[in-house]
Amino acid sequence: MGDKPSIAVVGYRHGWKFVDSLSLKSDFVGGKLAAICGRSLPQNKPANCPGVPIYSDYKKMMDELKPDGIVAAVPNDIHYEITYEAAKRGIAVLLEKPIAGTLEDAQKIVDCVSTTNIPFMVGHHRRFSAKLNMAKEIIGSGRLGRVVGVNVMWMSRKPNEYFNVEWRVTEKVGGPLLINSIHDIDDLRYTIGEIEAVQAFIGNMIRGLDVEDAGVAIIKFKNGALGSYIFSDGTPSMHFYEACAQEDPFFHPVEEDCYFFFGDKAQLSFPTMKITGYNEKSGGSDWTRPFSVENIPAPRFNPIDGETKHFCEMIKDSDVKSRCTASDATITLKVIEAIRLSTKTGRTVHIDEIKC
Ligand SMILES: NC(=O)c1ccc[n+]([C@@H]2O[C@H](COP(=O)([O-])OP(=O)(O)OC[C@H]3O[C@@H](n4cnc5c(N)ncnc54)[C@H](O)[C@@H]3O)[C@@H](O)[C@H]2O)c1
Repeated sequence: MGDKPSIAVVGYRHGWKFVDSLSLKSDFVGGKLAAICGRSLPQNKPANCPGVPIYSDYKKMMDELKPDGIVAAVPNDIHYEITYEAAKRGIAVLLEKPIAGTLEDAQKIVDCVSTTNIPFMVGHHRRFSAKLNMAKEIIGSGRLGRVVGVNVMWMSRKPNEYFNVEWRVTEKVGGPLLINSIHDIDDLRYTIGEIEAVQAFIGNMIRGLDVEDAGVAIIKFKNGALGSYIFSDGTPSMHFYEACAQEDPFFHPVEEDCYFFFGDKAQLSFPTMKITGYNEKSGGSDWTRPFSVENIPAPRFNPIDGETKHFCEMIKDSDVKSRCTASDATITLKVIEAIRLSTKTGRTVHIDEIKC
């Protein structure tokens, strides 16, 4: 293997971010780019990786180059197939989220990874966000008191041409629930805890496609906290994670919040990291009193670099554990399936009802 594991990136749209990490920041992430692979030659092939082999067939690439690992940033309906092909060759996999488009495929991935024991992580990259980890720490420290509720928005407008890619508008493969909301749901599990039940509605009045373009969900957490979540990919709003968190230069940055965590002692606005509540100067702690406001400096860090670095460490050292296992990511997918089932049946759906 040498000092740095060799990593091939399969899928060249979201995948370009990993190409950047492995080429421009190779020393930081501790891995080297072995190849890039996609169905068509990337139009924006970066100048920063001259001489890196390009493949269209990922099996041929794996057989010829035998990389230590792959990043699989490919459509959701081939997540199982590519994991299986890598695992049977003993190649580690960093698989983009969602773990799969369906729970059946997710279970097959869980089984395949456990049988072959390859280093494996699902790309819920926000688990490597310095800001989200700070929010998790603040909540975990008890600074907000008991979490009473959370209000989450993912309201944005995607470009029209985004929808020309078929899998993104195919039910059970694409749609904003599987592509975008899955991040927010994972963030909620990560920061607040496991979700017990959901009640939801979805709509498609903006584009009239098979997949939803808006939705709302009411969430009940196992620890008693409550949440409300609204999402849409067809409304010109500033209130979505990527714009607010400013971790990915692809998205126009804004100084706004998208998550509001409410405790019985204080409230945290995320990602501006503003904590509001009452302190000694307030002279009391009720709605007649002046608020105390504290802005906590929030670090900015590209979570894709952190994720890639961790994946390389997992390959080098078997004691380094996955930060998002196949089983863990399957629970996040189950919440998405529960939201779907609730919209179809009109009833509250408990996550335990959802079976693979
Ligand atoms: N973590 C994130 O923030 C994030 C953001 C965007 C996308 N994603 C995930 O990344 C994955 C890809 O999304 P995208 O929007 O980049 O998709 P896309 O359709 O724009 O690109 C997919 C890429 O995969 C390649 N590909 C498809 N089938 C292939 C095959 N059989 N063999 C080799 N290459 C193949 C295509 O040529 C293309 O380069 C999805 O799972 C998506 O959910 C994650």
